[in-house]
Amino acid sequence: MKTLKNMTVALSLLGSLSLFSAEVEVLHWWTSGGEAKSVGALKTMLEKSGHTWKDFSVAGGNGVNAMTVLKSRVVSGNPPSAAQIKGPSIQEWAELGVVSDLNEVAKAGKWDERLPKMFSDHMKYEGKYVAVPVNVHRINWMWVNPAVFKKAGATIPKTWADFEVAAKKIKAAGFIPVAAGGQPWQEATVFETIVLGVGGADFYKKALVDLDLEALGSDTMKKSFDTLKMVKSFTDKNAPGRDWNLATAMVYKGEAAMQFMGDWAKGEFKVAGKVIGKDYVAIAAPQTNNKYLYNIDSFVMFKQKDAEKAKAQAKLSELILSDEFQIIFNTRKGSVPVTDGVSRDKFDPIAINSINQLNAAAKSGALLPSMAHQMAISDSIKGAVVDVVTNFYNSKMSSSDAAKLLVDAVKNEM
Ligand code: BGC
Repeated sequence: MKTLKNMTVALSLLGSLSLFSAEVEVLHWWTSGGEAKSVGALKTMLEKSGHTWKDFSVAGGNGVNAMTVLKSRVVSGNPPSAAQIKGPSIQEWAELGVVSDLNEVAKAGKWDERLPKMFSDHMKYEGKYVAVPVNVHRINWMWVNPAVFKKAGATIPKTWADFEVAAKKIKAAGFIPVAAGGQPWQEATVFETIVLGVGGADFYKKALVDLDLEALGSDTMKKSFDTLKMVKSFTDKNAPGRDWNLATAMVYKGEAAMQFMGDWAKGEFKVAGKVIGKDYVAIAAPQTNNKYLYNIDSFVMFKQKDAEKAKAQAKLSELILSDEFQIIFNTRKGSVPVTDGVSRDKFDPIAINSINQLNAAAKSGALLPSMAHQMAISDSIKGAVVDVVTNFYNSKMSSSDAAKLLVDAVKNEM
């Protein structure tokens, strides 16, 4: 009897699994060591819930390549179930009527109560949730190899003037001061960090969020461009085209002293087995202490012909905002939980510092969306801004010409 009862239970369980199980094809660009390990956590959790994960990864930092592939899949009428999409692009996709409404899952999971409003607003279109946030990354970090600094007799800089002094010493000692990846999005990442440091939070907001033409053409913007060129002069000649994770490796291998990169870099230090405090440290990039450029990864679910798939999409969304996932994923990825109230126990000192800096910045008005990581302005304007930065970075253009071009580029797109 007992065995029969067990069998019935097992069969009905199986039945319910297969009845509700569907495949979720997930488009993402998390292919570096740390990124792959992080997204692996989501795959495992989804599969444990009885659904199937179909991986659709498109390599290329910042998702530049992934977004191109996504567009062609949607245009051909065959969108993936879920795609990593961020910032104002979420609303742009929603406007086309191709994305699923996640409001029911959001209500059941109390997303409005658990997410800071500033972040949940990014996830909504016409007041309804159409995206699920995964994490909060901070952009304006400086990743440091303390042993290289020590060997060069240099001090870890807090201002751009100190940076120049330190970088000269590091270069003289035979090391590469700054590990850089010469790709437009990486150059833009360093640029926006400099704009925040040189101009301050209000200036950053005016220039790169509100697109105020006066700020874009100002002396402060010229100074930011000059600082960018100064930083470039401390990079090596093999930087063009280099992937960000290879630049991170230069820091932990002791070839370079610093990298300016968002905290997904921490995922690489971790998979390489490096120890915080001993092998590497992370502090705010010069002049950006208590200022915070945020970058939220999120997934949008695309409407599917097969209605069963909606259940798997809802499950995926629900899992992403569970405390369990927020902890596993973010401790691997280098980011911090996007939901309030998640236990900090498993987070390292860099993540705790990130949370503290985020709270301080929120209070002082210095919590700002990253332009380079698609959080602040539409993709087309962002593209125009990044083009100017890259052209300046890779030519002999003067900073006043760059500031003028920036104004023109934004005017043309508005
Ligand atoms: C994403 C991160 C990712 C990084 C490098 C950023 O835009 O938000 O999740 O790790 O690009 O690919």
